[in-house]
Amino acid sequence: MQDILQQLEAKRAKARLGGGEKRIAAQHGKGKLTARERLEILLDEGSFEEWDMFVEHRCSDFGMADQKVPGDGVVTGYGFINGRLVFVFSQDFTVFGGSLSEAHAEKICKVMDMAMRVGAPVIGLNDSGGARIQEGVASLGGYAEVFQRNVTASGVVPQVSVVMGPCAGGAVYSPAMTDFIFMVKDSSYMFVTGPEVVKTVTHEEVTAEDLGGAITHTTKSGVADLAFENDVEALLMLRRFFNYLPSNNREKPPVRESGDPPNREDYSLDTLVPENPNKPYDMKELIVKVVDDGDFFELQPDYAKNIVIGFARMAGQVVGIVANQPLVLAGCLDIKSSIKAARFVRFCDAFSIPVLTFVDVPGFMPGTAQEYGGIIKHGAKLLYAYAECTVPKITVITRKAYGGAYDVMASKHLRGDVNFAWPNAEIAVMGAKGAVEIIFREEKSDPAKLAAREAEYKAKFANPFVAGARGYVDDVIMPHGTRRRICRSLELLRDKKIEEPWRKHGNIPL
Ligand code: HXC
Repeated sequence: MQDILQQLEAKRAKARLGGGEKRIAAQHGKGKLTARERLEILLDEGSFEEWDMFVEHRCSDFGMADQKVPGDGVVTGYGFINGRLVFVFSQDFTVFGGSLSEAHAEKICKVMDMAMRVGAPVIGLNDSGGARIQEGVASLGGYAEVFQRNVTASGVVPQVSVVMGPCAGGAVYSPAMTDFIFMVKDSSYMFVTGPEVVKTVTHEEVTAEDLGGAITHTTKSGVADLAFENDVEALLMLRRFFNYLPSNNREKPPVRESGDPPNREDYSLDTLVPENPNKPYDMKELIVKVVDDGDFFELQPDYAKNIVIGFARMAGQVVGIVANQPLVLAGCLDIKSSIKAARFVRFCDAFSIPVLTFVDVPGFMPGTAQEYGGIIKHGAKLLYAYAECTVPKITVITRKAYGGAYDVMASKHLRGDVNFAWPNAEIAVMGAKGAVEIIFREEKSDPAKLAAREAEYKAKFANPFVAGARGYVDDVIMPHGTRRRICRSLELLRDKKIEEPWRKHGNIPL
C-alpha cells in the first residue's frame, strides 16, 4: 500500500510540474505566473480542490503519442473566494502553450457543468496558444462545446475571464461571452487575427500589443473591462470584485454591513453642480460621496468615459451604478456609451442587482459619425435594457435630462421605481436656447425678443416641477439627503416583483 501511495504522490508531483522547470522559468521570465501560482493567489488559502489532474490528450498524430503531460494544459477544479464557492480553470502555458485539445476542453466543460448544477460562478484564467494544432477539428469541437456552455450559463451563473497571455483566433469568443473580462498589461492580448495575418490582408503593420493588448481593449474597443499591471494585481482585484457578484441568478449578492450610516448627509453635494448649466462637474464625486464608505468599483473607466458604470454598496446592499459624466462630451449618450451601459444594466438585471442611475444628460450625440455608425440601433440597446429590467430601479436627476435621453435613463415611463430630481434639475425636450430658436424662428432677427423668449422657456421648463406635477419624478430632493433617500428606497424595493408576459425571448436591437 505504501508503494501505491508513493506512486500517487509521484504522479501528482509530475502533474504539478506541468511542462517542466525550463518552461516554468520561461513563463516567469515573461513576468507571468504559472497556472497553479495564479490559482493560489485567486483562491482562499488551501481551498483549491483540483479535478482531472491525470487527464491526458488522446492524439497520436505528429508524434503526440509520446508527448503526454498529465492535466493536458489546464488546471481545473473549485475553491473559495472570501468563503464563497467558485469553479475555476487556469490554462497552463507551459504545457503545449496552453493550447486547447479535446481533453483540455472536456476538463473546462466539466467544471462549467458542475457550476451550473450547484449554482456557482465560473472564473477562467486564459493563457493559451489557441486550438491544439496537432488535433485539428477535435480541438475546434472542444471550443464549441465551451462556447455552448458559456451561452447556456449566461444569466444563470456569473462568468468572469482573466486574459493573462495569448488569446487569439476563435478562442477569444469564450471570454467574449462571459460577463466580465480583465486583462494584464504587456503580457496578454486578444485578437481574431494576429499581426501577421493583418499585414498580409490589409497591409497594416501593427504590434500584438497595439492590436489586442490590455490598453487597446480597455480604451479603444471596449472588449475588456479592466487592465492591470501584472498577474498579482489582476487576481487580487478579482477577489475584491467577486464580492459584488451573487453566486447565481436565484440568489442576491452578499450583503456587507458597513459602519457608514444610511442616513448620512453630505452638504458638499448642495454645491456640487455649478450655477452655470454649461459648466461640467465630476459625477464620480457624487457617486463616491453617496455610496457606502466611498467605495466604488468602476468598470471600463477608460472607455466611453461619458458614462460611468460600476458596483458599490448602499446600506450594505450591492447596487449597479450607471451615471452620465458631464466632464466628458457633456455627458451626451453616444454609440459606445449606450452599449457600455446597456450590457451592464442587463448584467444587473440578470443577477438581482438594483440599478441606481444618476442622470445629467443633454441628449444623444449629434453628427454623421453617430448616425452612420447606427446610434439609432445602439441607443435603442440602452433604452431596451432599461425597459426590460425588472430589478429595483432608482433614478436621480442631478441636472439635465433632455429629450429622448431623459426617457432612456431609467425614467418613470420605463418602470423606474423611485425617481428623484435635485431642485436645479432641468427636464425638458431640449435646452432653452435650441428650443426658442425652433419655436420662435420668425423672431430670430430680434435678439432681445429671443432672449426674453429663452428666459421664459427656461423659467417654465428648466426645473423639475413640470415633471413633478405629472408624477414623473416622485420627489424633488435636497442633494445632501441623496444617500438617505436612496437607502430608504432600496429598503422599500427589497422584495419587488414584476410579472412579465410569457415569451421565448425579446429581440433586443443587436
Ligand atoms: C500546439 C502550441 C500551440 C498550439 C503554442 N504551442 N501554440 N502547441 N498548438 N496552438 C506550443 C509551442 O509549440 C511551444 O512548444 C510552446 O507551446 C510555447 O510556444 P512558443 O511559440 O515557444 O511561445 P511564444 O514564443 O511565447 O509564442 C506564443 C504564441 C505562439 C504566440 C501563442 O506559440 C503561436 O503563435 N502559436 C500558434 C498560435 C495559433 O496559430 N493557434 C491556432 C490559432 S487558431 P514547446 O514544446 O516548444 O514548448 C485557433 C482557432 C480557435 O485557435 C477556433 C475556435 C473556434
